Amino acid sequence: MKKIAIFASGSGSNAQKIIEHFTKSAIAEVDTVFTNKIDAFVIERARNLNIPSISFNRDEFYNSDNILNILSDKKIDLIVLAGFLWLVPANIIRMFPNRIINIHPALLPKYGGKGMYGDNVHKVIIANHEPFSGITIHYVNERYDEGDIIFQAKCAVELTDDANSLASKVHELEHKHFPNIIEKIIMKM
Ligand code: GAR
Repeated sequence: MKKIAIFASGSGSNAQKIIEHFTKSAIAEVDTVFTNKIDAFVIERARNLNIPSISFNRDEFYNSDNILNILSDKKIDLIVLAGFLWLVPANIIRMFPNRIINIHPALLPKYGGKGMYGDNVHKVIIANHEPFSGITIHYVNERYDEGDIIFQAKCAVELTDDANSLASKVHELEHKHFPNIIEKIIMKM
């Protein structure tokens, strides 16, 4: 059984879908949810699904090996960033080569980089009158949103869309595809 660690900073709807998907799986399970926000709703979602969560602060994440040591003690195989807004530090990237993936709410390489997360992304896409948006699942390196792309899916942006309605379309794509792509990656490990 492979072990997944999810890192999330917010609501955690993707985390929930991933946990639910792997509850029924014979190949992998979600071991722990990690969060940088002590009051993130993802903690409650994890608790309701009987998954432990661990929160950490900036100093612990960037200036110690605490999180790295927990990941290694727990024998985590794959780290999944699901709405996690901090850059992953080099010590963790080095320890998990090609074993950290992220989901981004746009079609990278456009609309990525520092500050481009959640509704910020959708607002810029609407303001630029892009005809399409979508999701990108990619490997994580030491720069925001720049690792190799694993999977993308598109949705149309209508003239009537606003950031909220676009966020809903993007979430729908994320919930449909992210657990399946994670499963495919795990099957190749
Ligand atoms: C998701 O749409 C994810 O793509 C995005 O945050 C949202 C989290 O939703 N991630 C980023 O913007 C990363 N740059 P959730 O908490 O409901 O899963």
